[in-house]
Amino acid sequence: MSKTIWSGRFSKSADQLMKDFSVSLPFDRLLFDADIQVNRQWARSLQEAQVYTAEEVEQVERELEAIALDFHRGNLDFSPDDEDIHSATERWLTARLGALGERIHTGRSRNDQVVTDFKIYLREKIQDLHKQVVGLQTVLLERAEEHENTVMPGYTHVRQAQPISFAHYLLSFFFQLQRDGNRITDWRTNHNICPLGSGALAGSAFAVDRQRLALALGFDSASDNSIDATGDRDFVLDCTSLCVQIMLHLSRLSEDWIYWSSEAYGFLAIDQAYGTGSSMMPQKMNPDSLELIRGKTARVIGAHSTLMSLIKGIPTAYVRDLQEDKEPAFDALHQTELSLRILAGVVKTAEIDVQRMRLALHPSVYATDMADYLVRKQVPFRQAHEIVGKIVAWSEGNDKPLDQLSLAEFKQFNANFAADVLDLFKPHHALSHRNIAGGTGPQSVRRQIEKARQLLTSVG
Ligand code: ARG
Repeated sequence: MSKTIWSGRFSKSADQLMKDFSVSLPFDRLLFDADIQVNRQWARSLQEAQVYTAEEVEQVERELEAIALDFHRGNLDFSPDDEDIHSATERWLTARLGALGERIHTGRSRNDQVVTDFKIYLREKIQDLHKQVVGLQTVLLERAEEHENTVMPGYTHVRQAQPISFAHYLLSFFFQLQRDGNRITDWRTNHNICPLGSGALAGSAFAVDRQRLALALGFDSASDNSIDATGDRDFVLDCTSLCVQIMLHLSRLSEDWIYWSSEAYGFLAIDQAYGTGSSMMPQKMNPDSLELIRGKTARVIGAHSTLMSLIKGIPTAYVRDLQEDKEPAFDALHQTELSLRILAGVVKTAEIDVQRMRLALHPSVYATDMADYLVRKQVPFRQAHEIVGKIVAWSEGNDKPLDQLSLAEFKQFNANFAADVLDLFKPHHALSHRNIAGGTGPQSVRRQIEKARQLLTSVG
C-alpha cells in the first residue's frame, strides 16, 4: 500500500481512477509560491506554540527557500501520491528534514491552508488585473483627448438618436472601468482577511498569534470565525464576479466596434495587428480580436456560474466539492487580463474616420433640438414633440431631407420657426447645448477628461 498523508486509517490504496479523479496538482500548482509563504509563516507560528525551536524554524525556512528555488528550476518531481500542492510541499520538506518536516502540519488543516494560499494568489492576480484596467483606461483617455472635437451619431436601439462627441463615447467606457477598479479595491477591503489558524473547521488547538500571522502574510486582520473562514468562497465568487463585470464592459465596446468597422459604417478600421484574414475569401479582414473578447465573455460568465452552482447546495464548512473552485477562477482571471490587454491594443491602434462619422449624421438626428427650439419659444414640450414629429413624417413622405426644408415650409407647421432654425443642423450647435454636467457638450467633455486624468493619477 502506498503511503499518503492520511494512509494510517486505510488498509488499501485508492483505486487508480479515483487517484486520477481526485488530484488537483495539475492546476493547484499555481498556488506553490503562496504555499511556501504560508509554510514559512506557519513554521514561525509553531515556534510560538513551542513545536519548533528558533533554530529549527530557521532550518525549515532555509529548506523551504531551497525547495522554492528547485521548484522554479524544474528540479522537483511530483509523486503519484501527491494529491495536491500542499501535500507535495510537505513531502518535499519531510524528504529533506525528516521529523522537522513531519511537524509542519501541526495544528493546521489543508482546509485553512488552501483558502489562505488561494486568497494570497487571487490578491496578487487581482492587483495585476487592476493594472490592466488602468492600462485600458489610459488608452481610452488618450484617444478621447485626441477626439474631443470629433462628432458622430449617438445611437439608441441601434438607430441614430442625437449627435455626440466620439470623446464622450470613449469616456463612457473610462467611467465603467473606473467602477471595475473600485470593485477591485472593495475586494481587498472585504477579503484580505487571514483564515490560517482556523484548522479543519474548529480552530487550531495550538496557541499561535493569529494577528502576527495575518500581518506577516500581508493580510489586514485574522478571520473571526473558523467555520466561516474554512467554508468561505465569497472571495472567489467576488473575484469572478468582477471579472464578469469587466468582460461585460469590454464585450459591449467590442460589439460597437465590430459593426462600426464594417463596410456599412466605416467609422473606424481595426489595425491589421488585431484582425485576421479568411482562408477562402482573399479580401477579408475580420475583427477577430473583438469577436474573441465577446466570446470569452461567455466563458468568464460560465466560470462565475460554475462557482455559484458549486456553492449553492453544499453544507457548512469544508467539503471536497470546493476543490472545483480553482480552475474557473484561474481561467476567468487569465482570460479577463488577456482581453483587457488586447482591447487596449485595439483601441490604441484603430484608425478613426472622422469624416465618415460626421457624414453619417442623418438630419433627423437634430429632431430633439428642433423640439427644444420651439420649447425655448414657449411651446409646451409635448406639443413641440408632436409638431416636429409631423415635420419629420412630412420630410420623409416628400423625400426632402429635414435640413432642406425652406423657412416657409417650417412655418407651415408652426409660426414660431424663424431663420435661425437652419442653425440647428450643425452638430456643434447640438453639442454646445449639452454642457450640462455629464453631457456631451465640449466643456462637459473637457471636464470629464480632467476628472479622468485626476482619477488616473490618484491610482498612481
Ligand atoms: N486540494 C484540496 C482543495 O483544493 C485541499 C483541501 C483538501 N482537504 C480535505 N479535507 N481533503 O480543496
